[in-house]
Amino acid sequence: MSYVITIDGPAGAGKSTVAKDVAKALGIKYLDTGAIYRAISLILHESEIKPVDDEIMREALSDIDIQLQGKAVLVNGFDVAGEIRTPAVDELSSKYSAIPSVRKALLSLQKEQENHGSIVAEGRDVGSVVFPNAKVKFFLTASPEARAKRRYDERVAKGQSADYDEILRSIIERDKNDSTREISPLTIPEGAIYLDTSDMTEQEAVQKILDKVKEAIPDETK
Ligand code: DC
Repeated sequence: MSYVITIDGPAGAGKSTVAKDVAKALGIKYLDTGAIYRAISLILHESEIKPVDDEIMREALSDIDIQLQGKAVLVNGFDVAGEIRTPAVDELSSKYSAIPSVRKALLSLQKEQENHGSIVAEGRDVGSVVFPNAKVKFFLTASPEARAKRRYDERVAKGQSADYDEILRSIIERDKNDSTREISPLTIPEGAIYLDTSDMTEQEAVQKILDKVKEAIPDETK
C-alpha cells in the first residue's frame, strides 16, 4: 500500500535535505512543493505579471503548464530547475505563493503525485491542505538564527557571496509572509510531530524522522 509522509516548516529549517534523505532511506519518492512555487513565481515575474491582481494572474496561469519529471520542473516544456534557487526567487516565491489563484492552480498537480506511489512531501501546507490524510506528518523548525547560519554556511560552501544579517532579515520576512497570508498559512498541521532542529545535525533529524515513521507505520516500512 502506498503512503504519504509530510514535512512542513519555515524557510531554511533543513526540510529539503532531510526530506530527500528520508525518502532515499525509505526507497520512496521525494516531492519538493517549494520548487513548484518557485518555478511558477519565476515565470510570472518574467512575464511581468505582478503578485497583486488575483484575476489577471488567474488568466495568466491558465496558459502555464507545469510538470514534474524527476528533478526537472518543466514550465511549458522548459526545465527551470537550475534557475529557481536564488535569493531573488526566494523572495518572489514568498510573495506569489500568497496569491489564492496561484495556490489553487498548483494544488491538483501536487495532490496528483500521490497516485504514482509513496512519497515524502515537503512544503508549507502539505500536511494541512495538500495531503491532510498523510500517514505521518512532521513540522520541522529551528530558530531564525540557526536557519540563517545554515543558509550562510551553504552559500559560503558553494563559493557564493553571503551576508549573515541580510539572510537573517530575509528569513524573518519570509516567515512573516508565509505565516500571515490568508490562504494556507504556514501552521503546524493537526497531529504533526514537532521537531526543533536548532541543536540537531541533519543526520540526527533524519534518524529521528525515520524512527517515528517506522514506529507509526511498521507494516509499510518493513
Ligand atoms: O521551501 P522553499 O523555500 O523552496 O519554498 C519557496 C516558497 O514557496 C516559500 O516562500 C513558500 C512557498 N511555498 C508555499 O507557500 N507552500 C508550499 N507547500 C511550498 C512552498
